[in-house]
Amino acid sequence: MKVGPLEKECRIFLAPMAGITNLPFRAVAREFGCDLAFTEMISAMGLVRGAVKTHRYLDSTPEDRPLGVQLFGTDPGVMAEAAKIATENGADWIDINMGCPVRKVVKNGAGAALMKTPDRIRDILRAVRPVVRVPLTVKIRAGWSRGSINAPEIAAMAQDLGVDAVVVHARTADQGFSGEADWRIIGRVKETLTIPVVGNGDIRNASDALKVMNISGCDGIMVGRGALGYPWIFREIAAALAGAPVPGTPTLEERRHIIGVHLKREVDYAGEKAGYLSFRKHLLWYTRGLRGGARFRHAASNLVSAGQMWEAFDLFLSEGDK
Ligand SMILES: Cc1cc2nc3c(=O)[nH]c(=O)nc-3n(C[C@H](O)[C@H](O)[C@H](O)COP(=O)(O)O)c2cc1C
Repeated sequence: MKVGPLEKECRIFLAPMAGITNLPFRAVAREFGCDLAFTEMISAMGLVRGAVKTHRYLDSTPEDRPLGVQLFGTDPGVMAEAAKIATENGADWIDINMGCPVRKVVKNGAGAALMKTPDRIRDILRAVRPVVRVPLTVKIRAGWSRGSINAPEIAAMAQDLGVDAVVVHARTADQGFSGEADWRIIGRVKETLTIPVVGNGDIRNASDALKVMNISGCDGIMVGRGALGYPWIFREIAAALAGAPVPGTPTLEERRHIIGVHLKREVDYAGEKAGYLSFRKHLLWYTRGLRGGARFRHAASNLVSAGQMWEAFDLFLSEGDK
């Protein structure tokens, strides 16, 4: 799908995930055919105030392209200023978070709380659209609750206000991450809009990706949790969308290689200690479903450095090889 002025056609997206979609992880996802990767949600206020930690979320490299930057907030002027800062720092695409159900975010009227305040969405988009030349999108939920499904109306309004595409996480905000995504709501949004629609929620493999597209007619798909510990999902989805045979699951050797690359990237990016701490959760995900994985994860909780972790992991894999 072609989105706004972005040259590259993108159909497969890595979802923004707080604490997860940093530069090293985005690089891994891109290697497997993810067309565009998002930063985690970034506080618009934090960017505008110049908070150093917040600015680090914009860290990127020339290979980390095209880069989607997701912003959250409620103040239209601040959102516009933050969008400007993000694009000046290399964002190729700006997304506005309208789906985060976390209390800390919704109590300030941001994230999914915006689904309850269309007037605020209008004000934000009126302020942000004129200052953003790159594609501008909104990532919405089906609605706040089952009794107030309004994704089609919100999406239509966003389209009228000039957004280039809409991402729909097919759950209500009050569902959090529980229950199942109902992909039919993505179809209802798609029927309402002329701009591209990206479907999201519970896409765990290539066949899910095809199913979402068939059920909803969406133009692209976004994967979050399905990529945790399994970035190979992107090459499988890319093959399926191209009508090619879906590659088999990676061998232990392939896993060893990518896990090593990922760990090195984390350490290179954040330093030995912080890189190791950031990577730990990934290693636990990478070993999910592997023989002896539970035993390894238990043992891994006592490890304190990247070196120790790698040794233990290598041993675990060589035992799996036997
Ligand atoms: C740990 C975690 C962090 C997330 N952080 C964000 C975020 O920063 N911004 C956002 O729009 N959605 C966030 N999400 C939601 C995902 O982007 C996605 O919409 C949701 O997980 C459903 O897709 P999935 O079933 O493919 O994971 C997060 C989800 C998880 C599990």
